[in-house]
Amino acid sequence: MLQSTKMGQSFQEQLGLALTLLLLPLGAAVTGDTNHNCYGAPGLPGMPGMPGKDGRDGLKGAKGEPGIPAVSAAQGPKGMKGEPGSPGWPGKTGPIGPPGPRGDPGVMGTAGGPGIPGSYKQKHQSAFSVKRQTGVHPLKNVPVVFNHVITNTNNDYNTTTGKFTCKLPGLYYFVFHSSQTANLCVMLYKNKSKVASFCDHKTNTMQVSSGGILLRLEAGQQIWLEVNDYNAMVGISGSDSVFSGFLLFPD
Ligand SMILES: *[C@@H]1O[C@H](CO)[C@@H](O)[C@H](O)[C@H]1NC(C)=O
Ligand SMILES: *[C@@H]1O[C@H](CO)[C@@H](O)[C@H](O)[C@H]1NC(C)=O
Repeated sequence: MLQSTKMGQSFQEQLGLALTLLLLPLGAAVTGDTNHNCYGAPGLPGMPGMPGKDGRDGLKGAKGEPGIPAVSAAQGPKGMKGEPGSPGWPGKTGPIGPPGPRGDPGVMGTAGGPGIPGSYKQKHQSAFSVKRQTGVHPLKNVPVVFNHVITNTNNDYNTTTGKFTCKLPGLYYFVFHSSQTANLCVMLYKNKSKVASFCDHKTNTMQVSSGGILLRLEAGQQIWLEVNDYNAMVGISGSDSVFSGFLLFPD
């Protein structure tokens, strides 16, 4: 542009000089036509005019040749190792794994304190001795009722029904001593089944017969005495009839 402007100035300077040269003979001709009689010597050429204004910009030049393709620079040396990035978010919870192997058994605990005293004596008691206090002979084939209590723990013997009911299972001993005024047969029953029979024919005015037996009983089983046609059992002054039983060994 600078060069172009200089060229433009130079061109205009040359144009101004050419115009000046053209006007010179024209002035001389006019002067010659009107004042050809009294003309002096031709004047000196005028001073060069002022430079004209800058011309307009020239037309845009043609597109230049494409430049040399840039050569990719050779790979530089490997840089320093960067700082580790910040940790990412925790991942999702994975599926439950299989159960682990059984652990070792724990150490043995310390021994406990002494237990409370047992109540063997209170719990496992069953014993009775009952008297039949009447001169009336008992009815046959029904339980003989001993209506007077001498001893009766927990009321296992019922003086109304004449039956002993086992509450504590175990081995029991039963025994009777009966006074009789005539023949007497005493049978011991266990739940409606006859276990033992004791018959005694009277040979004296007054005599005592007896019988005893060991029986293993379950809870709920009942024991009683019966008489048959030989039923001369009495319980009168000096001639008692006593039925006893007790738990020998609890189960
Ligand atoms: C004796 O047996 C009768 C009749 O089953 C009953 O009503 C009574 O309560 C019993 N007595 C005892 C002390 O169990
Ligand atoms: C014995 O009789 C009692 C009273 O009827 C009953 O509860 C019990 O189950 C009987 N026991 C046996 C072994 O028959």
